[in-house]
Amino acid sequence: MANNQGAAMSQFPSAKALIPFVSVENMMRLVHHVGVETMLVELTDAIEADFRRWDVFDKTPRIASHSRDGVIELMPTSDGEIYGFKYVNGHPKNMAAGFQTVTAFGLLAQVSTGYPVLLTEMTLLTALRTAATSAMAARHLAPKKVRVMAMIGNGAQAEFQALAMKAVVGIEEVRLYDIDPQATAKAAANLADSGLIVTACGTAHEAIRGAGIITTCTADKQFATILTDNMVGAGVHINAIGGDCPGKTELHKDILARADTFVEYPPQTRVEGEIQQMDPDYPVTELWRVVRGEAEGRRDQRQITLFDSVGFAVEDFSALRYVREKLKGTDFYQEIDIIADPDDPRDLFGMLRRAKV
Ligand SMILES: NC(=O)c1ccc[n+]([C@@H]2O[C@H](COP(=O)([O-])OP(=O)(O)OC[C@H]3O[C@@H](n4cnc5c(N)ncnc54)[C@H](O)[C@@H]3O)[C@@H](O)[C@H]2O)c1
Repeated sequence: MANNQGAAMSQFPSAKALIPFVSVENMMRLVHHVGVETMLVELTDAIEADFRRWDVFDKTPRIASHSRDGVIELMPTSDGEIYGFKYVNGHPKNMAAGFQTVTAFGLLAQVSTGYPVLLTEMTLLTALRTAATSAMAARHLAPKKVRVMAMIGNGAQAEFQALAMKAVVGIEEVRLYDIDPQATAKAAANLADSGLIVTACGTAHEAIRGAGIITTCTADKQFATILTDNMVGAGVHINAIGGDCPGKTELHKDILARADTFVEYPPQTRVEGEIQQMDPDYPVTELWRVVRGEAEGRRDQRQITLFDSVGFAVEDFSALRYVREKLKGTDFYQEIDIIADPDDPRDLFGMLRRAKV
């Protein structure tokens, strides 16, 4: 009798088996429900709050699997209560074949039980969190009252970067440049009703004219020189996003020699960031120390600051926790049974056996 009841119950996962899953469609609903710029501001604050408690996190350089075509990476961390990881790829050649360069999904789990508590798409969320991290860095490092940003590389991340710098830092104009004019036209159209002045430029030189922030966000599998030394004047803040793999950089190393460089997690950035071009003792400042007021950010208006962004697991963790909070009281998720949950925790085989039809 008990076994028969078990047979009937085994067809229906219990609450323990179910975890919230955020599809791409639901992520888009959530972003529009909150509002893109509001979400970028809130994510910036969420990431900054976690950078302030940097010491509590388990930290490790991400685990990268490189191939000729790109990289697949796992990015784990934990604050002792919640564990999170992101799966993300980077394949610069994908775009020509109709695939995206970067896609991602991620998971949060309860450390006390090891049970997952959230599974979500993270392609959109990565673009949002990358832009929010850039904005967080810029609000500590960019020149005061900066109004103009150059955006070099107008692909998937570009509009998010521009909107975060508008919402968090207060830029009023974005000057777009991409080697592919269609990418620039796409970004200009997407930003047309953003409230930003949008200027499409024919060269990188033209784009950086008058810009207090220069964002480089291009995708190439090999060393590229998006900015040369003579292009970078005193006082600018460089937000270098696209150099994020061994052998994949965007800046000429002479720029690094003149800049004060800020990074997320040195053991990862020294391998993946712009600073891979420099000696191992090239000085860097960890961003969390600036956020906590333990290290100086921008000292003066002539200093060149560089955020050598590669993307670190704590930023994804912050974004995942933010999404988990925002889901409360909404229907922007489905429940999926991803954990096998036998009535008797030791009777996993019995659960399988009873499900046989
Ligand atoms: N630092 C981070 O946290 C982080 C997060 C996400 C993505 N990324 C990186 O950012 C880069 C951009 O990502 P995406 O998703 O926007 O890629 P994407 O492929 O959608 O766009 C890249 C754009 O760069 C342009 N481009 C290539 N070479 C150029 C050049 N020499 N000058 C000007 N434009 C050039 C391409 O035409 C394309 O439009 C990638 O390298 C990706 O790995 C970094």
